[in-house]
Amino acid sequence: MRRAACLAAFLLAAAATGPGRAAAADETLPPSLERGEALWAKCQACHTLEKGGRHIVGPNLWGMFGARAGTRPGYRYSPVMAASAVIWTDATLDAFLAATQEFMPGSKMYGGLAIAQDRLDLVHWMKHKLPRE
Ligand code: HEC
Repeated sequence: MRRAACLAAFLLAAAATGPGRAAAADETLPPSLERGEALWAKCQACHTLEKGGRHIVGPNLWGMFGARAGTRPGYRYSPVMAASAVIWTDATLDAFLAATQEFMPGSKMYGGLAIAQDRLDLVHWMKHKLPRE
């Protein structure tokens, strides 16, 4: 009985929403825009998102969903990304961020997100910020 109460308390705590919430390694919670926005901090040293934004270390990402990888005008990509046939979607961006160098060996980007929930939240927020034109 006592064990069941403990388990219930644990499950309630695990289901709490907002920054700092945690999901078990093999499952994800519904995406959170708030967490996604906070996670963008990990990308913004190298990327801008707004229309007409400058390239920094990495390219400006406006309009990337549905576009081919390596095609932002005026940015010098690695040969592998410039020649890539990848189309950016939730799934390809998730795979790229999960294991950048396995997904695209030789890319000059480092700095993905190891935690699935982080990728889900961030990609959700990016799609919200970057409607297709
Ligand atoms: C240390 C700098 C750095 C960080 C941090 C970084 N990136 Fe990048 N990113 C790059 C570089 C450099 C490229 C170009 C890669 C190439 O040419 O191979 C790139 C490319 C990309 C592309 C492909 C763009 C295109 O035009 O096809 C996407 C999407 C992307 N990054 C998303 C992200 C996201 C999301 C984050 C945060 C989790 C992030 N990046 C963090 C440097 C960075």
